[in-house]
Amino acid sequence: MKIRADLVVENASELVTVAAAGCERDDSATRVAPGSRGTGRAAVSPPGLPRTGRAMRELGIIENGSVAAFGDRIVAVGPSAEVRAKVSLTPDARVIGATGKVVLPGFVDPHTHLVFAGSREHEFIQRAEGRSYMDILASGGGILSTVRATRAAPPSELVELALKRLDVMLCHGTTTAEVKSGYGLSADEELKCLRVIRELSEHHPMDIAATFLGAHAVPPEYRGDPDGYVLCITEEMLPRVASEGLAEFCDVFCEHGVFSVDQSRRILEAGKAMGLAPRLHADEIAPMGGAELAAEVGAASADHLLCASPDGMRRMAEAGVVATLLPATSFTLMLGRYADARAFIDAGCPVALATDFNPGTSPALSMQFVMNLAAFGMRLRPAEVICACTINAAHALRRADEVGSLEVGKLADIIIADIDTHLKLPYQLGTNFVDKVIKRGQVVVTGGRRVVQ
Ligand code: NIG
Ligand code: FE
Repeated sequence: MKIRADLVVENASELVTVAAAGCERDDSATRVAPGSRGTGRAAVSPPGLPRTGRAMRELGIIENGSVAAFGDRIVAVGPSAEVRAKVSLTPDARVIGATGKVVLPGFVDPHTHLVFAGSREHEFIQRAEGRSYMDILASGGGILSTVRATRAAPPSELVELALKRLDVMLCHGTTTAEVKSGYGLSADEELKCLRVIRELSEHHPMDIAATFLGAHAVPPEYRGDPDGYVLCITEEMLPRVASEGLAEFCDVFCEHGVFSVDQSRRILEAGKAMGLAPRLHADEIAPMGGAELAAEVGAASADHLLCASPDGMRRMAEAGVVATLLPATSFTLMLGRYADARAFIDAGCPVALATDFNPGTSPALSMQFVMNLAAFGMRLRPAEVICACTINAAHALRRADEVGSLEVGKLADIIIADIDTHLKLPYQLGTNFVDKVIKRGQVVVTGGRRVVQ
């Protein structure tokens, strides 16, 4: 019996499946399935787990490959002739030729602060003149200036602003994103932002994972009393967030001068008890033991990590915490260095990449820009970069059963890129290589532009 399909993307120069290798064992290693070729040694991570070590270089590339979908799901993946033979097309099926192009899974951006009003372009000039990010925050600017603008904005304005940003992300290939609250910092204002995030999910094709980040900064109402604010988060905000089912994750900015390890632990444990999985901003500006805390609480992901200790890396690897690195933030903060991606990989941590889009430290909506920085700034290999923006990023959101690779049964989230080899993905600078984006089986971007059906 043939498999029904209503969409086929065929004859790709390279179909980058990012699927785990075909696990045909010989004495020394694991080979990829016939008809496909790996980009390094064979994969060592079992399917279902994030990729670590050499397995981050395994992209499951199929030359002259096709992917077929029915409805929102992938139904066949393989060499073009095999897929054509396997599927029976519905009368209204869409056949998209990808000759000379690279086809790959939609990018997953596992760390964004997408919902805010106002902007902070004046701050980067201050930073260029030598003022530090934490100094600007301590004097009531930075995050707190965005809090003032966001509190003043009606939800409709926040929705409108965020929808435009989501469109830009989609046009650059992102099909799943995490979105945090964190510019409300009172129960009512945080809930307002989380409801905005829920509305975005209803009005935009992007799949969105919502994160409660009430612990983004200590608001002016609790200046000098961070423990009082922590109590407000655990006793008032979290129960309301959980009872309305507004967030999957709970996040904390664990940093000197913001929330201590002990305060972060209290918040993350309280969130966990209410069904919110922990993730955190850890060891960004000063070494704090944030990586160790991430391992202790079983976080889905620890993010930033420029100052993580070797022991913290080891513990994260043991606990299976994804290290989500944010090179656009290091770039924008003009730090002159990046998180040590190679040390995380060598320690056995799965590495993901994200934009950290926000008005203060990362005005970047494009995962392609992040890929460039990861390749040129962190010296990651193209295959590692792609793995970090797809399957490992999906693991950082605990959605790898749905997205992050082109595999039968997963969502048909597909990028058709106007390049002939995946090596150009992180290499090509400053231009958008996305031709088409297919989201849940629907063409939502063509010629690099958003199409609304
Ligand atoms: O991940 N570090 C804390 N939060 C954001 C910055 C938010 C802001 O400056 O508005 C970050 O970099
Ligand atoms: Fe962030």
